[in-house]
Amino acid sequence: MRKSTASAPGKVILLGEHFVVYGTKAILGSIDKRIQVTSILTDEDTINVKSNLGSISENSSISLKKIRTPLVPFFFLAKKMFDEFNYKGGIKIDIESEIPPGVGLGSSSACCVAGAASISRLFTKLSKQKILQLATEAEKKIFKNTSGADCTVCTYGGIIEYSKSKGFQRLELSRDIGLVISNSKKKHSTERVVSKVVKFKEKNEKKFLSLLEKESNLIEEAMHYLKTNDLRSLGKAMSLNQNYLEEIGVSNQNLQNIINIANKTSFGSKITGAGDGGCVISLVDNSNADTTMQNLKNKKYDCFSVSINPKGLDTF
Ligand code: MEV
Repeated sequence: MRKSTASAPGKVILLGEHFVVYGTKAILGSIDKRIQVTSILTDEDTINVKSNLGSISENSSISLKKIRTPLVPFFFLAKKMFDEFNYKGGIKIDIESEIPPGVGLGSSSACCVAGAASISRLFTKLSKQKILQLATEAEKKIFKNTSGADCTVCTYGGIIEYSKSKGFQRLELSRDIGLVISNSKKKHSTERVVSKVVKFKEKNEKKFLSLLEKESNLIEEAMHYLKTNDLRSLGKAMSLNQNYLEEIGVSNQNLQNIINIANKTSFGSKITGAGDGGCVISLVDNSNADTTMQNLKNKKYDCFSVSINPKGLDTF
């Protein structure tokens, strides 16, 4: 029985979501919540994918166009390997996740990265770079215009600075970065929110260009604060980034309410990922993590703390 397991972390975007799609840099970090994918080759001619979202089984020869589920990247990955290695059997793919889906914490990119590693290893041993390429191709089956940022951080882990044209650079930190994550419980479709921003850009070309420039400068400043461990200034930069995200219309009143509560004690807060729902991240350290969490919990918000974890893709 050929079996292969891989795991990949979820992610937060400290600064730069949406603008990164248009070429500015973004700063991302992998979190200590992960997805594990186990793949086993079988004698049946089916592709079977099981996750906490449900289970789906289709004939191995099914056309991808006929698969209408968020699990389509797994079918893409399996079929691609089957074709490349002229394999005629089936596969069973099991997903175990600690990352809530559809709320901006990188569950789909972690699925694509861990899926690409786990499935490909049944046939061949690929470099991390090749796994990232495969994962990004798989992610495009659910979200065509991805900047590639999410899959990159889920593959390499830690804190990275990412741009579409220059790729990524990893930042070595001398202290932990702690975050409180509040889940607004409203799921979003990244594809839909990114399309909304396209429309905003078309209607407000000049304003959008000026926001791109402001964001670009802010990222440079934030990189400096990260390197000098200046959490207070980093938090302020995150809050300023939130204002830019509000201007392009990807926040809402509920997210703003969470941010107002969190900002009474945290260093700064913003949405993470596509927005329009999803999660808010608040930058904290030991001095304010507990009070920030307590204030949010008192208002019945679902929140938990995470730290940036350097561990990216892992195979075993
Ligand atoms: C989604 O996590 C981040 C976006 O910037 C889209 C992307 O970078 O592909 C909204």
